[in-house]
Amino acid sequence: MALQSDQTVLDPQADVEFTNEQHRIWTALFTRQQPQVQKFACKEYLQGAANLQLPPDRIPSVQWLNERITPRTGWRTLRTRVRYSDAVQWYKHFARREFLVTDYIRTGEELDFTPEPDMFHDVYGHLPYFTLESYAELQDMFAPAFHRAATDDQRENVKRLAWFSTEFGLIRQDGELKIFGTGLISSKGEMEHVLAGKTPLLPFKVETILNFDKAIWSFNEQLFFFESLEALKRELAGYFDSL
Ligand SMILES: [Fe+2]
Repeated sequence: MALQSDQTVLDPQADVEFTNEQHRIWTALFTRQQPQVQKFACKEYLQGAANLQLPPDRIPSVQWLNERITPRTGWRTLRTRVRYSDAVQWYKHFARREFLVTDYIRTGEELDFTPEPDMFHDVYGHLPYFTLESYAELQDMFAPAFHRAATDDQRENVKRLAWFSTEFGLIRQDGELKIFGTGLISSKGEMEHVLAGKTPLLPFKVETILNFDKAIWSFNEQLFFFESLEALKRELAGYFDSL
């Protein structure tokens, strides 16, 4: 298998061959998630999904994805063998508008929730958004902030703010809270938990969020909402500019 220079990322021309069982799990996840995503996801996600037109019955290749994403925003995806990329690697690629997609997909027993972000999360949750320039600009804010951060605490804060916004945030649209975060969009179990009102929600304020830890192995105990994509960018910029 051809690897690029950092030895963890595959050459897009030599992408992974997935098994029939993996395509079947993708199809099951896609089919279960579509109805509630169409109903509860924010406008930006739905616009991105309409742009990308992910196949419901096959894991798309990196080449297929990039043919549809890169002409729109300049972002591209790269396949990685690493199941949970560390933040230094992650933001190194982010700075180049490269989004890493793992080759791992959850098992049939983990359809509702997987603690490890798998390719269904990466592709179905994140990639539609990368067809939108307004969203690409949001993602462009994180790598410079991470690289400007002078301490481990500040780097952790950048990751924490990404977690509670792009991964698990909610957004108010037409008077209703809609699902924005990709971790909710790709998790039937946690999305239903939030929609049932079981997760406390607070306004997205950096000073509040810095008191909360990411919940990787369970549902989040607290989540945050913002009033618009632009309001989120303003709130993040207030902190990132101080680094
Ligand atoms: Fe993610």
